[in-house]
Amino acid sequence: MAPSIEEKAEMASACNGIGGPPYRVTVVGSGNWGSVAAKLIASNTVKLPVFHDEVRMWVFEETLPNGEKLSKAINQTNENVKYLSGIKLGKNVIADPDLENAVKEANMLVFVTPHQFVAGICKRLVGKIKPNTEAISLIKGMEVKTEGPCMISKLITDMLGINCCVLMGANIANEIAVEKFSEATIGYRQDKEVAQRWAQLFCTPYFLVSAVQDVEGVELCGTLKNVVAIAAGLVDGMDMGNNTKAAVMRIGLREMRALSKLLFSSVKDSTFFESCGVADLITTCLGGRNRRVAEAFARNGGKRSFDDLEAELLQGQKLQGVSTAKEVYEILSHRGWQSMFPLFTTVHEICIRQLPPSAIVEYKEQITNATVVEGVAPYC
Ligand SMILES: NC(=O)c1ccc[n+]([C@@H]2O[C@H](COP(=O)([O-])OP(=O)(O)OC[C@H]3O[C@@H](n4cnc5c(N)ncnc54)[C@H](O)[C@@H]3O)[C@@H](O)[C@H]2O)c1
Repeated sequence: MAPSIEEKAEMASACNGIGGPPYRVTVVGSGNWGSVAAKLIASNTVKLPVFHDEVRMWVFEETLPNGEKLSKAINQTNENVKYLSGIKLGKNVIADPDLENAVKEANMLVFVTPHQFVAGICKRLVGKIKPNTEAISLIKGMEVKTEGPCMISKLITDMLGINCCVLMGANIANEIAVEKFSEATIGYRQDKEVAQRWAQLFCTPYFLVSAVQDVEGVELCGTLKNVVAIAAGLVDGMDMGNNTKAAVMRIGLREMRALSKLLFSSVKDSTFFESCGVADLITTCLGGRNRRVAEAFARNGGKRSFDDLEAELLQGQKLQGVSTAKEVYEILSHRGWQSMFPLFTTVHEICIRQLPPSAIVEYKEQITNATVVEGVAPYC
C-alpha cells in the first residue's frame, strides 16, 4: 500500500534531513508520450518518499470538438482524452494550461513536446524556474544552427542554465501505456547521482531504465532513428519485403553511429547497443508513426505530401522524421558529407519529392565515397 502523506514526509525527512519530500516534478508537455511519462512518474511519486505525490503536467491548451478545454477534460476524467484516451493517468497528475504556474514549484522538469516547440517554451521559462532545477529531455530531434547541430538537451541547458539529462529508448508510448514491458536509457553528463534519481522516478516493473554517461550518443540515437524509420516505411509502402527492410535498418544504424561520432567525438559505440540504440531503431522501423506515414507516402507514389498525410493520419500528433531528415541534410550539405551518408541524404530528397520513393534502394551511382567514414558500408 502507498504511504500516507504524513508517512512520506516522515520518511523524507529521515532520508534528507529536512521536512517534506525534496523533489517536485513537472512534465512539460502532454501529447501521447508526455501523458504516458506522467503516468509512469505519478505511479512512483506516490510510493517514493523523496518525491512530492503531485505531478503537474503542462498542457498546450486546445478546445475539443465538444467545446470543452483539454486541460479541464483531463482533470475531470483523469485521462488525456485527445492524446491517450482510455488510460488513467493517476489521480496525482494535475493538468495545468498555465506554463509558468505549472513549473513554479518544481525542481525536476521533464521536457516532452515535439522538438519544434522547445525553444519557444524555454523562452517563456527564462527566469521563471527555481534555482538548482534539474531537467530531463524525452524529446527526439535537434535544432540546426549555422555553427552546427544543437541537441535539445543543450538548447534547454543553454536557454535555462540548468543541467539536462536525456531519456530515450524503444518506447512506443501506447504500448507502455498498457504496461507492456520495455526498456529505456538515460544519458547523463557528469552527475551519476542525478541520473539515478531520474531512473528512480521512471523505473517500474514494466519499464526498466539504465543510465550511460553519454548524453549526445543517447540523444542522437533517439533523433536519427526517425530518419531511418522513414526509409523503412518507404520500403514497406513498396512491398519490398523483410530483407530490404533489414538492409535499410542496418545501413541506417551505421549512418547513425558514423554521424554521431563525427559530430561528437565523445559518443561511445556501446551506446548503440542500449535500448536507445538498436532497440529503438527496431521498434520504430516496425511500428512507429514515422514508418506508418512514410508507408502511406510510398503507397501514394509520392503524390501526396508528408504534411498532408501527417494531418490525415496522425490527428494532431507530430511527425519527427521528415523535419529531422531536413536538419540532418543541412548538416551534411554544410560540411560536404552527403556522399558519405547516402541513406540520410536520399530520405530527405524523397521527402521533398526531389526523388521518387523507389530511390531509397537506388544508391549505386551516389556512393563512391561511402567508405570514407569508418562504419559506413558500401552498398555494392
Ligand atoms: N509518442 C511516442 O510513442 C513517443 C515515444 C518516444 C518519444 N517521443 C517523443 O516525445 C516528444 C513528444 O511527443 P508526444 O508523442 O508526447 O506528442 P504528440 O505528437 O502526441 O502530440 C503533440 C503535442 O504537441 C502539442 N502542441 C501542439 N502545438 C503546440 C505548440 N505550438 N506549442 C507547444 N505544444 C504544442 C500538442 O498539444 C500535443 O501535446 C517528441 O519529441 C517525440 O518524438 C514520442
